[in-house]
Amino acid sequence: MAKDNKPFEIILFGPPASGKGTQAKLLAETFDIPHISTGHLLREVKADANNHLAKEIANLIDNGQLVADDLVNQMVVDRIKKNDCQAGFILDGYPRTEEQVEFLEKISNIDYVFLIEIKDEMIIERISGRRTCKNGHSWHIKYSPTKKDGLCDICGEELYVRDDDNEEKVKERLRIYHQNHDPILNYYNQKEKLIIVNGDQHIEGVFQDLIKYLVDDLRRKMR
Ligand code: AP5
Repeated sequence: MAKDNKPFEIILFGPPASGKGTQAKLLAETFDIPHISTGHLLREVKADANNHLAKEIANLIDNGQLVADDLVNQMVVDRIKKNDCQAGFILDGYPRTEEQVEFLEKISNIDYVFLIEIKDEMIIERISGRRTCKNGHSWHIKYSPTKKDGLCDICGEELYVRDDDNEEKVKERLRIYHQNHDPILNYYNQKEKLIIVNGDQHIEGVFQDLIKYLVDDLRRKMR
């Protein structure tokens, strides 16, 4: 999906378990552009025994703390330089700090920033039922169950509970989210790029809202 031959660059923003990864995957399939999750990229580093940063990153992400801006920024620029991002990309979990926003502004031309809003009370239920595979596919035992118990429908890999998916760590992740999100959202709001989506509905409902906004906006721009 390209407009005026420009890439289609989207940010999905929201608190832990708001559904960023779930919706990013659906949008990526629909528009055939990559889904870039900094959380997933960092978990890949954590799982790589040969990577000298693995331990440091594990210590941060397993305790719900943010990884250093320089490192995350470098991962993102390396990823979006790849050929498959030429038609655009969907960022999930990035940017998360004002420094990351500043960096992203220099290397991209973001079109849409969707804030997926859910109430804090819903987060624990979403997190406690989440099951993830090593390829970053996310399921839920109640809301998005796999066909075979314990195995990913997409890649067949075993499902596990993330180390940061427990009540104590989620509270910390949420605290950090609330501490950082205002200036980021204000920035994109001033740029008229911020769109708020109700995440408190079933997965398909959220997806329909995202698609409707994108289609309506592209129609407006084509007139
Ligand atoms: P990250 O992996 O990005 O974690 P997060 O932002 O806390 O978000 P989640 O992955 O928990 O949730 P999600 O919104 O993607 O929800 P999902 O679709 O899975 O980051 C992890 C850590 O890495 C951070 O804490 C930090 O340490 C580090 N990190 C990452 N990015 C960084 C950055 N930029 N800078 C510094 N450090 C960084 O859905 C959740 C569950 O709910 C699933 O089970 C799903 O099936 C289900 N679900 C989804 N939508 C619905 C729905 N509408 N109804 C019912 N169930 C639903």
